[in-house]
Amino acid sequence: MKVLDNPQTAQQACQSWRRDGLRIGFVATMGALHDGHLSLLKRAIAENNRTCASIFVNPLQFDDPEDLNTYPVNMEEDLEILKQHGCDMAFSGTMETFFPEVGNPAMIRRIDPGPYASSLEGTYRPGFFDGVATIVDRLFRTVGNCRAYFGEKDFQQTLVVKHLSNQLKGAGIDIEIVVCPTVRSKTGLALSSRNQQLGVVDIDIASRIYQALNRTQLAWRSSVRDRATLTRILNTALEHPLISIDYAEIRNPDDWNSTEKEMDSATALVAARIGDVRLIDNLRLDQPDES
Ligand code: PAJ
Repeated sequence: MKVLDNPQTAQQACQSWRRDGLRIGFVATMGALHDGHLSLLKRAIAENNRTCASIFVNPLQFDDPEDLNTYPVNMEEDLEILKQHGCDMAFSGTMETFFPEVGNPAMIRRIDPGPYASSLEGTYRPGFFDGVATIVDRLFRTVGNCRAYFGEKDFQQTLVVKHLSNQLKGAGIDIEIVVCPTVRSKTGLALSSRNQQLGVVDIDIASRIYQALNRTQLAWRSSVRDRATLTRILNTALEHPLISIDYAEIRNPDDWNSTEKEMDSATALVAARIGDVRLIDNLRLDQPDES
């Protein structure tokens, strides 16, 4: 596996693969890799001729410096995991190498994250999606035409990156976004780098988020379509003295900003804090029952 420490050499490697007619799969990460990330990597490897991954903890998407400082970093271990799973190239960079045109990170031109970014995560984490869009724009420009794999766990992020890829078509960059299912632990907890910050008891409590999503899905399956009722069921199921909810909402995944009362397509989305750890999760309610 090639390990490159700046986006310029990564761009050259990708250009050279494309010149050889090879199709590239790309997985963007902030490291601290777990099986959720690896599910994206495996799919990228299966569907493309070459796969690359980026590891960069992007300061632009953290509004809280403490959150940035405590974000887990295991670069050596991550590179070993990528190599063992058959990734062809891993790259990272610094603010200076990703944004060489400005001397001061405060001067970086933020990319507009588009119409899907203004609610939910956008409300609770001001500037977050600007930060995501700004780095993902750079990552896409680095890798160039490719298939890029993102996790459904960060559902709103998938909408933002799809919007970005549409914008990039205008610049002649063709990025096909592939959304992959959420990988969960045995208890249903969505895998997340932040889970490392949870204690044993907290993990148990955190698993209630998935239980609440499931309960809402059961209501959907028993033909509840009223948004207010579904929202109430979700919020009631989340009630616990140690769970502090940022939001627990039902949205139409195909018409994100609609406010229809009767839903014909629905995703339940939750952001909650357990102690200092903020977790997000979601579940498509109208998916077929496979059990
Ligand atoms: P990060 O949190 O490291 O996640 C990288 C990718 O892994 C994202 O597409 C995310 O949705 C996916 N992922 C995380 N947990 C998952 C799980 N349990 N199941 C399936 N996929 C999962 O998301 C980011 O980094 C950043 O915002 C980034 C896009 C890299 C921009 O900085």
